[in-house]
Amino acid sequence: MSERVSPSLKASSPARLILGVESSCDETGVALVALPEDGAPRLLAHALHSQIDMHQAYGGVVPELASRDHIRRVVPLTRQVMAAAGHAMDDVDVVAYTRGPGLAGALLVGAGMACALGVALDRPLLGVHHLEGHLLSPFLSADPPCFPFVALLVSGGHTQLMRVDGVGQYTLLGETVDDAAGEAFDKSAKLMGLPYPGGPHLARLAEGGRSDAFELPRPMLHSGNLDFSFAGLKTAVRTHLVRLGWLDNAPALADPRHHALLSDLAASTQAAIVEVLLKKSLAALKHTGLKRLVVAGGVGANRLLRTQMDLACGRRGVRVHYPEMHLCTDNGAMIALAAAMRLQTGQASLSREPSFDVRPRWDLAAI
Ligand code: KG4
Ligand code: ZN
Repeated sequence: MSERVSPSLKASSPARLILGVESSCDETGVALVALPEDGAPRLLAHALHSQIDMHQAYGGVVPELASRDHIRRVVPLTRQVMAAAGHAMDDVDVVAYTRGPGLAGALLVGAGMACALGVALDRPLLGVHHLEGHLLSPFLSADPPCFPFVALLVSGGHTQLMRVDGVGQYTLLGETVDDAAGEAFDKSAKLMGLPYPGGPHLARLAEGGRSDAFELPRPMLHSGNLDFSFAGLKTAVRTHLVRLGWLDNAPALADPRHHALLSDLAASTQAAIVEVLLKKSLAALKHTGLKRLVVAGGVGANRLLRTQMDLACGRRGVRVHYPEMHLCTDNGAMIALAAAMRLQTGQASLSREPSFDVRPRWDLAAI
């Protein structure tokens, strides 16, 4: 299990302080963001606890274990963040939390803690959409975008192309009809005997592999719309493993003599996923006529995706923006930031009710 706390950086001008709590899946994230009266939100401190090691033994997230671990971590992480930022709890002006989408039990922990803090401090609550957090996360980077832009949201549960005209102005252009890109990485990796979450492990195994060694489909590449489908890709990976006699054959997968071939299969899988994401993003840019792209969500940490996106977009005069590498996967900073940007644009529905709700299924385009 890993835990990170960022260095402290105290705000110099009067600013509202927003505490953000993320607990939608398998990371507990807490962050403090300062929103100056005139200027961009600034991240003061953030802390993250990843449950990856805990879930690895089960090959995926166990929701009940996730909820219990969020309960254990969320208060100590909040204390760490406040100490790192050099602020007292009472300095917090707004308490933001991830309202959805995500695992219901896990969301309830963050929402419950935020609500308790709101009542204790007499401060308003703000429920944030998890994907809005991902989508706006590049605004915390050294190279922030400006509106409008096309956003490719690629996480473990979602793959969407959006047209973003401003905070809260999101038009869905296309999305996956079955598995998300992160799921395609994770499920293919699992079939290859790699630990959970498979994405980064598969990407590592793919290094040095030949991306044209195995024939794999590019689902819906020529569908004529901006939707995706990744379920067939995982099935094709499965078929190759069956043919090699490696499916459910742990010794064969672990045999160092097979490493080069497995690396080729990983490279071929990664190339197929990246090619579809790249070509659909280019089609979305062409369709909208926009010259700016944001790539956000866990899969946005993939090096091949970044390299190919930069190359193809560079040739077309399109600027690409990403979150900082450590803010690609789930974190509290993006939740505090999304809350800050909603406050800044007068679009925050603050609540002072001593109650909260969560939305495990929640459409971003509908908010
Ligand atoms: O955004 P995220 O942290 O969680 C969700 O909101 O789902 O994304 C997690 C996903 C997982 O599927 C993980 O395997 C994938 O992001 N991921 C990667 C990489 N790093 C994380 N996929 C490919 N290459 C990576 N380097
Ligand atoms: Zn996420």
